[in-house]
Amino acid sequence: MKDKIKALAKKRNAIILAHNYQPPEIQDIADLCGDSLELSIKASKTTADIIVFCGVHFMAETAYILSPDKIVLLPATDAGCPMAEMINPVSLQKKKKALGNIPVVTYVNSSAAVKAVSDVCCTSANVIKVVESINADEILMTPDKNLALFAASRTSKKIHLWDGFCPFHNTLTAKDVTKAKTDHPEALFIAHPECPPEVLTLADSIQSTSGMIKFAGESLHPSFILGTENGLLYPISKAYPGKKFYPASEKMVCGDMKKITLEKILLSLETLSGRVTVPKDIRKKAWGAVQKMIEL
Ligand code: 13P
Ligand code: SF4
Repeated sequence: MKDKIKALAKKRNAIILAHNYQPPEIQDIADLCGDSLELSIKASKTTADIIVFCGVHFMAETAYILSPDKIVLLPATDAGCPMAEMINPVSLQKKKKALGNIPVVTYVNSSAAVKAVSDVCCTSANVIKVVESINADEILMTPDKNLALFAASRTSKKIHLWDGFCPFHNTLTAKDVTKAKTDHPEALFIAHPECPPEVLTLADSIQSTSGMIKFAGESLHPSFILGTENGLLYPISKAYPGKKFYPASEKMVCGDMKKITLEKILLSLETLSGRVTVPKDIRKKAWGAVQKMIEL
């Protein structure tokens, strides 16, 4: 199956991009695995004709926003992000107006339609840089309240929150982390900024998924507890076989991130099914917000 996929991808001049949370067999066949920022940058620069996106819908949409002349395929069409569904463009515009039309920073975990009514996008890897670049003292950050609270703790700007969250990262508690630390007292704790503030205060470092891989590689420490979706255990353990990695909680598994299979990738490449596009007017506006982030 893997050989068939690789051969067909080559024949069709397709690139396979996979998020760090994807199942191991998907990461193994991907041309590039990474966090949301790395995957967006790659999608904006590739010379391939087809992008096969192994992730969730908003990621494939972002790839299309950046590369509208390419065919973007999401092999599991029902792979969504519950957080991205916690906001829509109408309610966002209503809140923005009520706040006096202050700038809106939107996490890439959002639909193209929401990006289209936002000023700039951010990811977990660049949120502070993006917030600091805004020429205003007050900002509305959407849709992740935890990412917004993390940014608020690192800037003097006043940040208004949207009440969205990742159903997996948001379930991690200080009690879970304390238990993991008791079980592995020698390990450092690295947390994703989608975790609640009570968890982030216990972290030795706060990172995006690829930031966690980099941090573990640069640290002299031999073991780490990961406060993120448990799919990251695979690439991080593969990168540093001599180090030990433990999940902060067994409950952090995103079902949508596991919907793509090798069979679905092969079918998608064979039939070009699972094509993701964005209407032209929305794409143009959303491109402005995503491109501003990439330039930063
Ligand atoms: P990053 O890989 O950009 O940190 O994203 C985490 C995430 O939850 C993606 O859905
Ligand atoms: Fe969305 Fe959370 Fe799944 Fe990422 S891990 S896709 S933020 S639900």
